[in-house]
Amino acid sequence: MRLLELYLSNFRNYESLHLVPDAGLNLITGENAQGKTNLLEAIYLLATGRALRAGRDEELIRWGAEDATVHAHIHREQSLDVQVEIILSRSQPRVMKVDGQTYRAATALGQFNVVIFSAMDLEVVRGQPADRRRYLDVEISMLSPAYARALVGYRRALEQRNRLLKSIRESGGAITPSTIELLEAWDEQLVRYGSNVIVARERFICALRPLARTAHAELSEGREELDIRYAPAIEEVSGEREQIAERFRQQLRKMREEELRRGTTLVGPQRDDLLLFVDGKEARTYASQGQQRTVTLSLKRAEFELTLQERQEPPIVLLDDVMSDLDDRRRAQLLQMTLRGAQAFITATSAESFPQEILSNARMYRVENGRLEVVQ
Ligand SMILES: Nc1ncnc2c1ncn2[C@@H]1O[C@H](COP(=O)(O)OP(=O)(O)O)[C@@H](O)[C@H]1O
Ligand SMILES: [Mg+2]
Repeated sequence: MRLLELYLSNFRNYESLHLVPDAGLNLITGENAQGKTNLLEAIYLLATGRALRAGRDEELIRWGAEDATVHAHIHREQSLDVQVEIILSRSQPRVMKVDGQTYRAATALGQFNVVIFSAMDLEVVRGQPADRRRYLDVEISMLSPAYARALVGYRRALEQRNRLLKSIRESGGAITPSTIELLEAWDEQLVRYGSNVIVARERFICALRPLARTAHAELSEGREELDIRYAPAIEEVSGEREQIAERFRQQLRKMREEELRRGTTLVGPQRDDLLLFVDGKEARTYASQGQQRTVTLSLKRAEFELTLQERQEPPIVLLDDVMSDLDDRRRAQLLQMTLRGAQAFITATSAESFPQEILSNARMYRVENGRLEVVQ
């Protein structure tokens, strides 16, 4: 996959940008706070539907502007080229377009894949379960639009069900046959979407696991062993979707009284986690900072390999200001991916930390205050 063209309008500190990047390496340098991360964020947003940092869409719109547009023309080896566009507005929900046609956001995801390396990666290892669920959701959505749809359905059902539980609690816990009926209807929605979410997470982790192990063995020169495991909130789930659904249903029944008392849903994939182990110990608490960094690199390498496997073409690689912190060997490992045919966008405050072979092959840009220029 390759970005052929990128247009930005009022996105972050870019008033307008038209970029026709190189098919290989694009190296973007600039002082702090000039727009390096913003540029990668725009590409990331199109691929994942999510901002790198922000919560609300409004934060992505250039100050003083009413709406923002990010629009890319993507080349794909295994399917037709595609135009992806996202329009963010202060007053309306965002709009996503694929080849000019408007879609609900979740449907438009998964048009192309990126693997991003940034300072945020460590959150997956060190952060809360919610950070790891977000990681799973982003990664799986990029590979499977059906997952993104299941997630949307699940969230909606969960929200409605929680609202119902809360209102029952607030009305003193009086349960009529009709509220039971309503609750059971939401249970079914939860089970239907939720079991799809669980199956997809299990499959993804299962596929990522050997790739991450191999990458980690390589990065640590065989000294450490990485293991990753799914920790589903609904226990003893495995295998078929129908079994998982049945187990989910059972747990909802079992927890119903407690849920009515607490006024919220207590079981389901909103409580899942992803466990990471280095040499059998949980990386979040026991790994050193250096080991945690190696884990994140291993995961990224694994994402790259998994995308290759599933899409039969490399994802677009985004490296946000990570090169200067790495030792030579790790830097070389990262750059290897780009030598395997991937297009890459690499940001740094200066080009100094890059080996000559990279510099001579890269197209060089300089960014200043939201303006990008090719360096001759
Ligand atoms: N919505 C916005 N409108 C205008 N400027 C913004 C917006 N969001 C962030 N910025 C500006 O973008 C700059 C940060 O850009 P960033 O890409 O993170 O910098 P860096 O080059 O260090 O990666 C800051 O100057 C910030 O004020
Ligand atoms: Mg930055």
